[in-house]
Amino acid sequence: MFPLRGLTPAPLPSLHLKTSHLLPPLNVTISSAITNNYSISDEDLESRGFNLHRTVSDLNLDHLNKVFVAVGFPRRDPQKIRLALENTNSLLWVEYKKTQKPVAFARATGDGVFNAIIWDVVVDPSFQGIGLGKAVMERLMGELLEKGIANIALYSEPRVLGFYRPLGFVADPDGIKGMVYSRKKNSKR
Ligand SMILES: CC(C)(COP(=O)(O)OP(=O)(O)OC[C@H]1O[C@@H](n2cnc3c(N)ncnc32)[C@H](O)[C@@H]1OP(=O)(O)O)[C@@H](O)C(=O)NCCC(=O)NCCS
Repeated sequence: MFPLRGLTPAPLPSLHLKTSHLLPPLNVTISSAITNNYSISDEDLESRGFNLHRTVSDLNLDHLNKVFVAVGFPRRDPQKIRLALENTNSLLWVEYKKTQKPVAFARATGDGVFNAIIWDVVVDPSFQGIGLGKAVMERLMGELLEKGIANIALYSEPRVLGFYRPLGFVADPDGIKGMVYSRKKNSKR
């Protein structure tokens, strides 16, 4: 089911962004710093056997679904995934050239001007810990910041907070609390 499990490619080079421990101030200087200082360049990714894609074309949704399931996300209806991706403003995925399968993915929805929310940040377990998660997040963030989008949010599981913090994310900024609609199980509405 997970043919890539057990493969452990060598860690990708890890360069640290100057902005890594700051909240992105969302101006041109910072956004260009982010877009020009990826921890791994597109060329290095390619030389390590990975292709970067910014569109949904060529993305096999069954394979993507397998990555979702492998990291513990619920398996989703491929038709619904397709629709969701069609309604997604920005997405990035990394293909492992050897198998032509997706091994890292992230996407952002939003209004394209003020607000964006990042979803489905995943790296195939066989490829975690070598910089691919950071590589897709840096590029997704760079794209959003270049558009001037000032409000970028995401939901983070507690165990992943440490991954997002160096990318500039803070929990409950200025005491602001995120709220999600939580339908009661027996609610008739
Ligand atoms: C979280 C996830 C996307 C990280 O991707 P990854 O490719 O393994 O991470 P990277 O190798 O790019 O790591 C980048 C940096 O974050 C750190 N990091 C990675 N995962 C971390 C974690 N869970 N907690 C703290 N730090 C973490 C790495 O040590 C590395 O630090 P460095 O830059 O100082 O070397 C990946 O582990 C994953 O898919 N997890 C399961 C799905 C999930 O939980 N997604 C997030 C939903 S909220």
